[in-house]
Amino acid sequence: MHVAGPPSSRWAAYLGLLSALSAAFAPAVAVKEHDFKKCHQSGFCQRNRAFADHALASTAWESPYTIAAESGSFKDGQYQAVILKTVSDSGETVRLPITVSFLESGTARVTVDEEKRQKGEIELRHDSKARKERYNEAEQWAIVGGMTLDKAAKIGYEDKTQITVKYGPSSKFEATIKLSPFSIDFKRDGSSQIKFNDQGLLNVEHWRPKIEKPEPEKTEGESTEENKAEETKEEPKDEDESTWWDETFGGNTDTKPRGPESVALDISFVGYEHVYGIPSHASSLSLKQTRGGDGNYQEPYRMYNADVFEYILDSPMTLYGSIPFMQAHRKDSSVGVFWLNAAETWVDITKGKDAKNPLSLGGKAKTNTHTHWISESGLLDVFVFLGPTPKDLTAKYGELTGTTAMPQEFSLGYHQCRWNYVSDDDVKDVDRKMDKFKMPYDVIWLDIEYTDEKKYFTWDKHTFTDPIGMGKQLDSHGRKLVTIIDPHIKNVDNYPVVAEMKSKDLGVKNKEGNLFEGWCWPGSSHWIDAFSPASREWWSSLFKYDTFKGTMENTWIWNDMNEPSVFNGPETTMPKDNLHDGNWEHRDVHNLNGMTFQNATYHALITRKPGELRRPFVLTRSFFAGSQRVGAMWTGDNQAAWDHLQASIPMILSQGIAGFPFSGADVGGFFGNPDKDLLTRWYQAGAFYPFFRGHAHIDARRREPYLIGEPYTTIIGAALRLRYSLLPSWYTAFRHAHLDGTPVVKPMFYTHPSEEAGLAIDDQFFVGNTGLLAKPVTEKDQVSVDVWIPDAEVYYDYFTYAVVPTRKGERVALEAPMEKIPLLMRGGHVFARRDVPRRSSALMRWDDYTLVVTVPRDGKAAVAAEGDLYVDDGDSFDFQDGQYIHRRFVFDGAAKSLTSVDAEGRDTAAIKEGEWMQRMRAVGVDKIVVVGAPASWAGKKSVTVESEGKTWEARVEFTPAAQGRAAFAVVKKVGVRIGADWRVGF
Ligand code: GLC
Repeated sequence: MHVAGPPSSRWAAYLGLLSALSAAFAPAVAVKEHDFKKCHQSGFCQRNRAFADHALASTAWESPYTIAAESGSFKDGQYQAVILKTVSDSGETVRLPITVSFLESGTARVTVDEEKRQKGEIELRHDSKARKERYNEAEQWAIVGGMTLDKAAKIGYEDKTQITVKYGPSSKFEATIKLSPFSIDFKRDGSSQIKFNDQGLLNVEHWRPKIEKPEPEKTEGESTEENKAEETKEEPKDEDESTWWDETFGGNTDTKPRGPESVALDISFVGYEHVYGIPSHASSLSLKQTRGGDGNYQEPYRMYNADVFEYILDSPMTLYGSIPFMQAHRKDSSVGVFWLNAAETWVDITKGKDAKNPLSLGGKAKTNTHTHWISESGLLDVFVFLGPTPKDLTAKYGELTGTTAMPQEFSLGYHQCRWNYVSDDDVKDVDRKMDKFKMPYDVIWLDIEYTDEKKYFTWDKHTFTDPIGMGKQLDSHGRKLVTIIDPHIKNVDNYPVVAEMKSKDLGVKNKEGNLFEGWCWPGSSHWIDAFSPASREWWSSLFKYDTFKGTMENTWIWNDMNEPSVFNGPETTMPKDNLHDGNWEHRDVHNLNGMTFQNATYHALITRKPGELRRPFVLTRSFFAGSQRVGAMWTGDNQAAWDHLQASIPMILSQGIAGFPFSGADVGGFFGNPDKDLLTRWYQAGAFYPFFRGHAHIDARRREPYLIGEPYTTIIGAALRLRYSLLPSWYTAFRHAHLDGTPVVKPMFYTHPSEEAGLAIDDQFFVGNTGLLAKPVTEKDQVSVDVWIPDAEVYYDYFTYAVVPTRKGERVALEAPMEKIPLLMRGGHVFARRDVPRRSSALMRWDDYTLVVTVPRDGKAAVAAEGDLYVDDGDSFDFQDGQYIHRRFVFDGAAKSLTSVDAEGRDTAAIKEGEWMQRMRAVGVDKIVVVGAPASWAGKKSVTVESEGKTWEARVEFTPAAQGRAAFAVVKKVGVRIGADWRVGF
């Protein structure tokens, strides 16, 4: 079956590309916003917005949802009751069971379902095979921990109208559930933080039978005036049914076997001015209001994973992935919600002054942020986090959805990609040239053209004649190959992969229950249903080294187009009435689709060879809450334009605070040809993306970094080497992300939650715990940047050690000529580097470290500066058995010493050292650089080093302060083992 419909932009571009490839000219394609729905074109969004308008316009509005008297019970940390919805036109009541779970972590969860009807009462239309329940399996995909109920939660107060439950750490949290109308007020230390249904926008569209009546003529997504009149006649209570039973957009009709079933709720953040999160959008970190007005959006933020071709900036439009986790922040307080729903979701955001009490204490009216969450189907399921710090939020969210997988160490290096390297000779040539120009890199990538006519798991026999030879050349320098494998499987004869998928029935089905067929890169295709255990098992079989011939231990995988992208489908994706494993409709699971596919690949890579237990590397374009557990993401098809470079930074920061920090944007911009300045600045910024990959569209000119010419070649080479020298610190930052969900690059609100002026800043960030503050240049011809300084600490220029004249809360101008990356070091930190330039991260594995100490303003404090270093074999899972080194460094300004101890207080002598740890015995600290060293050290020639029962002297060179540059001292040939305890006395 073909999906009907006129071509989308993606489709047009695809056809254009086919002709371009033969005619060798690039198709002119434009941003096509109208390929994607606006709220008024999405029936359930329009209905809920209209519901909100109606409710908010009336002072007498009362939410029609009430907890049935006597239905409530509280036991073992869980409150259960039944919400009754009174249906306005029929007077009928609908029963909605509610469960409020109080978890040991201090997180609360509110789940509202719809009671199963008597058999036969709800009939599906069109003999659909779709499941008749509300989708309740999102939890199985997204949640991996933190679900233990808090048995200590207790009722604080209860009467006939409400119940208050005290819970959380030292019972500081409480939830007051009001019965009529239903609402919940979440408080911390007695004051309201988050309110549910305070505005009365709770709406659960209950299932109902369709009463057949003559079909009115319809226009797309909206009812005509005539229809409305018609409907008003039949539906005296003004219900607009025009999008209940089917809906057409862009020539595609979505049949809705269950009719309307959306869930919506208003969530108010009391006294909070900023909300962040719900990536991915090409928008600011601090989210904008969405109901119009100066500088605001007209449309809600949308989450409906899609292949948004040539996406526009500063927009709430959906992109490739969704994480429905939102954080609210005001000075010194963070709270948040996680809306666990995988269906199409929209979020309206408005802010308003507290009208009730403008003259409240302090005289300043508080700003509240109101959010309105609207999902097409499924349960209403929300987790509530009461903070109070940003770190509490990321940690609690990480406990639920899992944290970033410990990455392959190589994957933090530089990745060289383009669509496409055309042959194995081409790959080998790029590999040699990177060496020739002394540009370190770790991975070269193969896009779709390496295959035999887009049949994944095959090679183009004419161009990739010897993939193993290619892989071996890469491996000789510790380098890797990433090949793309997409979820669409070419529908063609003589392709065993598709034949097996068909015969074993492992694909996504259409609404009739037959294998779904649509179009993507290969032309006619079928899609693997990664929701199905059988499909995943089959998927694993395809990656075995002797099945996917030509791959070897250094081959890893890129999963693209997994929203899924269907060129001729509605909004370039699958019809919502398609069916997945268990007969769940695609509508219910859409936003999970990308994650299930990446997850299938992750598990396939873990089982490539019996006994080979290595951490997989899988890059994904589409994602959901939990995807951080199985790989990295990138921000999709951006453009070679300055504003896209600029937009990449808030996007990456948003990913980080939403639990998925392993993120990057295509360096250089995917579409188009960056000029030399832009490409160079993009490398300088990319060197600070957690995931650092250059990539380009097939029509773009070649732009491997050595092609650009001087002085740019040297400048880009320096940016790459800077990334490589700081790899130990990047890896340590990932370790923290893995342990407790801390972002790898951190926005100002995260590191300085008390500084109101920094809460909306999203163009600069700190790297891990290093104190490195980066502000990439993202504007054309810019030769200086203004960095906002969050505190009264001293800041040094990374490259010159100049003491930057800063004032807390003010901006300082930094010179940033083309060769310079604006990068400051905050006083008070110790971070690790490896300074010997080499070709790849693997070749640096046994190199000694350099430690950099940045002396703070109060250089005499006992813990004047501190930091840590985490290192493991970067490849296996042995770190889970304690095979790692984690040091904590403290610079004691009073005792004038730098010490290294195990960061976790382990008895390191008791660890049975495996092969990697034994080899690490030969790795030491080569150099210690103390920036801001006290003037009293002048004349010092040596320092005393103590370690492992021995004491010796190491040479130190002191350079006094001069012309704004801080004094610094360099200890050479320190001679301590990185894994040992030691002390250096200055
Ligand atoms: C998609 C990807 C892009 C890739 C192309 C061809 O557009 O986003 O990165 O190069 O497909 O596979």
